[in-house]
Amino acid sequence: MKRVSLTQYLVEEQRLNNSIPAELRLLIEVVARACKTISHAVGKGALGEVLGSAGSENVQGEVQKKLDILSNEILLEANEWGGHLAAMASEEMETIHQIPNRYPKGEYMLLFDPLDGSSNIDVNVSIGTIFSVLKAPDGMTTPTEQDFMQPGSKQVAAGYAVYGPQTVLVLTTGNGVNCFTLDREMGSWVLTQRNMQIPADTKEFAINASNTRHWYPPVTRYVDEMLAGSTGPRGKEFNMRWIASMVADVHRILNRGGIFMYPADKREPDKAGKLRLMYEANPMSFIVEQAGGASTNGKQRMLDIQPTALHQRVAVFLGSKNEVERVTQYHQE
Ligand code: AHG
Ligand code: MN
Ligand code: MN
Ligand code: MN
Repeated sequence: MKRVSLTQYLVEEQRLNNSIPAELRLLIEVVARACKTISHAVGKGALGEVLGSAGSENVQGEVQKKLDILSNEILLEANEWGGHLAAMASEEMETIHQIPNRYPKGEYMLLFDPLDGSSNIDVNVSIGTIFSVLKAPDGMTTPTEQDFMQPGSKQVAAGYAVYGPQTVLVLTTGNGVNCFTLDREMGSWVLTQRNMQIPADTKEFAINASNTRHWYPPVTRYVDEMLAGSTGPRGKEFNMRWIASMVADVHRILNRGGIFMYPADKREPDKAGKLRLMYEANPMSFIVEQAGGASTNGKQRMLDIQPTALHQRVAVFLGSKNEVERVTQYHQE
């Protein structure tokens, strides 16, 4: 089999389909390189003294793990000097990060969840990185937070890395979804899956069932109907999986279908869920749609939501199209 590297894929994509401008190609390569560095740190585990808590809190009130902070720093440092970015934003930083004046600036804005699945770090379960790329308004080299408030449909690229049994990078630039596996000996990303497709139907769902008593009626109804099995209204048996790393749950869905849900619930009625729109829900929704799946907040298409705050939370229903449409319809009835 002829090996196609990430670099070669991106160059060919730029040449043949014109879907990737040179600057964006450079940006993606740099993010991929940062993910390689994070993967290396993750792989060291206790030997690299990267496990455990850092003893600080982020703007969402979550305790930061050492790897949350380290991964954030790796992404910032890797992307600052390349000249392709106007600014960055991250789950682990309260405000946006401007490119220091000593470096040239570019037209893109990068958003990331540097380390997704923090609760799994110390137990050697798959974790990852999620990123999203927006364009800065024309000529804007020092964007404000307001300039980041673009609906997900404006993303020009999105991707995630999973640090699991293998390290993989899944990427879209709006022309389908491709998966690259890190060749750890060679240090290069190799194209291993082209044009990933999520089947429209599925018999598998993912939700944190410990929150059952807090759910709103549409979610309860939807899950109850699945749990009723082959003699219930759905007429088939469903299986359940919950990894508690969104990257790993979404990666499973991209490979064999399924629906992933993190609904808003009754605990905090003014909170629209747990996951963050800008650096979790939007990039994952772009990828899922590009793979033929669907994603909503229960009421509307995720990618159409007009953001109002950098760390805005949102309810998430994504994956196999027919299932996402069903649970979204239950919210409308
Ligand atoms: P993060 O580690 O970036 O804060 O995100 C964790 C998220 C997501 O990855 C996962 O799907 C969800 O939190 C798990 O939440 P529960 O612990 O409530 O199951
Ligand atoms: Mn977190
Ligand atoms: Mn996350
Ligand atoms: Mn995170």
